[in-house]
Formats: sequence, C-alpha cells, structure tokens
Amino acid sequence: MTSSADARIGLGRGNGKVVLLGEHAVVYGMPAIAAGISLGATARATPSASSSIRIAERRAHAGDGSELITALERIRQELGAGPQQVEVDVEVPLGSGLGGSAAIGVAVSRALLATLGEAETPRRVLAGADAWERVFHGNPSGVDAAAAYAGGCIWFTKEAGPEPLFVDLPLQLVICLAGPPASTKQMVEGVQRLGERRPDLLGKSLAGIESLVKNAKLCIQAGDLSGLGQLMNYNQMLLSGLFLSTPEIERACAVARAAGALGAKLTGAGGGGAVVALCDGSPQTVEEALRAADFAAFSTVVQASVGGLRP
Ligand code: PMV
Repeated sequence: MTSSADARIGLGRGNGKVVLLGEHAVVYGMPAIAAGISLGATARATPSASSSIRIAERRAHAGDGSELITALERIRQELGAGPQQVEVDVEVPLGSGLGGSAAIGVAVSRALLATLGEAETPRRVLAGADAWERVFHGNPSGVDAAAAYAGGCIWFTKEAGPEPLFVDLPLQLVICLAGPPASTKQMVEGVQRLGERRPDLLGKSLAGIESLVKNAKLCIQAGDLSGLGQLMNYNQMLLSGLFLSTPEIERACAVARAAGALGAKLTGAGGGGAVVALCDGSPQTVEEALRAADFAAFSTVVQASVGGLRP
C-alpha cells in the first residue's frame, strides 16, 4: 500500500493558445497555424484513495457525475493512472477561445504521467489531453491540445498532428475578449449544418481558408508580418461568411486595425470570445485603443522557438 507520505506528487503545465489561421477548417482536415501563449494552467496530482479535482474555485469528486470528474477519469483511464487528487491553477481566461480547457488537459496529463514516474512523450500527453477534451468538445480536431503542449508556433493537421513552425521574428500579439464566449461544440455543429444546406458555400470557404493558411506559413517563415496580417484579415472575412463572427468581434477587429494592427481576426470557435491582432513593433497602442473601446485586452509574444515538440 502507498502511504500519502511516499505517494509521488506530479506537476504539469499547459499553455493557452491562439489559432492564428485555420480554425473550423481544421475540423475538415485542412491545416491550421496555432501558437501557445504564456498564460496557461498548472496542475498538481497526488495519488489518493479516491479521485477529486479542483480547478480555480470549482471542485468535483468521484461519483458526483460532473463533467469535470468524468474528464479526470478519462485521462486516468487513457494513461493508466490510479485515483488522484488534482489541483489546477489557471491563468488563461476560461471559455474565451484561448484554449483554457486544452491547457488544463495537457497540464493534468503531464502531472499524472509524472506520478507514474513516466518520461512524457507528445503521443502520451496528447492522448490524455484528447480524452479530456472529448468530454467538453465532442470531437475536437486536436489543434488546441497540440498548441497547449508545444508552447510555440505550430502547423497542425488532424491527420499528421503538430509540426513546429519556426518563426523568423517574434510575433507580437494583442488578444482581446469580444463578448461572452460561445460553445465550441455548438459553433462547430453550426458550420456542419451550414455545410449540409450549402455544401458549395462551405467547400469554397474551406478551400479559401486552406490557401490562406498555406500562404501564411510562407509569410511566417520569411518574417513577412504585413503579409501575415493581411492573410489574417482575409481569414476573418471567410469566417464571417460562415456566420462565426459577431458585431462585437467585428468592432474589436476594426479598433485594432485602426490603431495600427497588421491584421485582426476571431480566434477559436467564434460567436464571441477572443480576437487576436498581429502588431508591428510595440503592441501598446493597439492594446490601449482596445481598452479605450471597452475591451479587456492583453499582449503576448510568440517566440521564435518551440520548446515542447521534442519527440
Ligand atoms: O475551442 P476553441 O474555441 O479554441 O476552438 C478550437 C478550434 C476549432 O477549430 C473551432 C475546433 C477544433 O476542434 O479544432
């Protein structure tokens, strides 16, 4: 029997994320470009007689039937870990399209693997995070979890998974919250319903987004920030055409562009939640303009290297 004194405590961290281009299309097998941001989640797991989890102020216990405890049990089953007492501290605003749920899934998976004394691999961490995400998001593409894991800029397809995308210059981003978030599951289902009614419209939009994402990869590799910003603006137009934007998202994009952002678009599921703006040099002017327009905004930098994606 393991006493609490010699139980192995595991710590793990996951990053929040932004999708720079390609959300929703990624669900249909197209590529997306995403990046980890510095805000994230940290988990601490202690093997225990029965499972429990605390995420910020929310608590769940074995047998209470909550989604949180179900998600913890799914990660445990996936990774082969026993019952755990898990504590999670979260910096990324939850339910905003910034990958809070995936950051937690990655952090908890890493913490559980540490309690098992197992060296982590992308495959194991992402399998745990996927088991977690499926409880909340139905059928996630995996882009959130991959960015939460990698911490830098990634190229992602459902088929091939994440590949590091080396950024020639650090990307200065301002992120703002443009209204209450919508459910990712419902937004993804909305696009699916549109595709059933208007397959031609969805097909053309997906093909358009795919070209933008491919061109954006070239811009990132060449350090062409203004090209990247323009492609983000075009991606926003195509996302609006799929009914994923809102008046508040459009207003935030317009404020950011007027203040000098090179490009701005919704990030994640849309219908509310976060907007990402790419800045040239100092992001301060854009951040201040968004705050003056009553949006909560903060800056983050995507660095030139990717830490997490080592095999
Ligand atoms: O969960 P969100 O809001 O970060 O959206 C994830 C990106 C989507 O493409 C909309 C869904 C997915 O599973 O890829």
